[in-house]
Amino acid sequence: MEFILYEVKDMVGTITINRPKALNALNSQVLDELDATLDAVDLDTVRCLILTGAGDKSFVAGADIGEMSTLTKAEGEAFGKKGNDVFRKLETFPIPVIAAINGFALGGGCEISMSCDIRICSENAMFGQPEVGLGITPGFGGTQRLARLVSPGIAKQMIYAARNIKADEAYRIGLVNAVYPVEELIPQAEKLAATIAKNAPIAVRNCKKAINDGLQTDMDNALVIEEKLFGDCFETEDQKAGMGNFLEKDKEKKLKVVPFKNC
Ligand code: CAA
Repeated sequence: MEFILYEVKDMVGTITINRPKALNALNSQVLDELDATLDAVDLDTVRCLILTGAGDKSFVAGADIGEMSTLTKAEGEAFGKKGNDVFRKLETFPIPVIAAINGFALGGGCEISMSCDIRICSENAMFGQPEVGLGITPGFGGTQRLARLVSPGIAKQMIYAARNIKADEAYRIGLVNAVYPVEELIPQAEKLAATIAKNAPIAVRNCKKAINDGLQTDMDNALVIEEKLFGDCFETEDQKAGMGNFLEKDKEKKLKVVPFKNC
C-alpha cells in the first residue's frame, strides 16, 4: 500500500489516508487501496475502526482534481461509482467507523466522513462541498448524505453556494459530534473506539445494521428490522453473559463481554 496505513491496537483498527503532499486527496489508487484495506480487516478481532488523514492540516481535501480534469462523461460517471462503491462499503461496514477529521474535509473529504458512523473533528477542521466552483456536482455521495445528515436547506445552501464551514459551525449543524484541540483528536477517537469495542460486538453490529437499514425504509418496516436484529441477540453468548452478570449483580463481570461469536 502506498497511500493507506492500517494498524490494529486493542481491537481497534486505524486507517490513515496517507498522501499528505496532496492533502490526502482521493485519486483512484487511494480509493482502490482503501477498498482493499477494508476487505482485509479481520472482523473476528477488530470491533471498531477509526478513519483519519496523515498530518495535522488535512483529513481529505477532496477527490483528486488533477485526475478528474481530463475525464470524459463516461469516465466521470465511472469515477463517481468507484468512490460511491468504496464509501458505501464503509457506510455498511459491519463494525462502527469513527471519522477523526484532522483539518480539511472538502468535497470527497466531507463525503467520506459522512459515510462513517460518527464524526469528530479538530478545531482546525473545515468542511464543505466546493464542487460547483469546479463545474461539477458533489460526486461521492455528498448530494445525498449531507441532506440526510443536516437539514436539506442547510445542505442545499452549502452545496449551491460552495460555502465551506469551520468546525464550530459543523458542530452547530450536527455534522460532527464533538470538536477537540488538534492534539486531543486521536486520543479522543481512540477513547470512544475503546468504549465501543468493550461492548457486546454482535449487539453493536446489530445496532448499526438496524439504524442504517431502518433509515432507508418506513417506520413500520424499520421496526420489523429492529425486532429481527433484537431477536437475533438472544442466540448469543453475550446476551446470556450480560444479563446473567446483571442478575448476579456482578458489576465487574458485566464489563467482561465474551468474545465475538455467532455472526
Ligand atoms: N486534488 C488534487 N490535489 C490537491 C487537492 C485536490 N482535491 N487539494 C489539494 N491538492 C494539492 C495541491 O494541488 C497542492 O499540490 P502541489 O504542492 O503539488 O501544488 C497540495 O495539495 C497543497 O495544496 P495547496 O497548496 O492548495 O494548499 P493550501 O493550504 O494553500 O490550500 C486547500 C488548501 C484550501 C484545501 C486547497 O488545496 C484546495 O482548495 N483544494 C481543493 C479542495 C477542493 O476543491 N476539493 C473538492 C474536490 S472535487 C471533489 O471532491 C468531487 C467529488 O465530490 C467526488
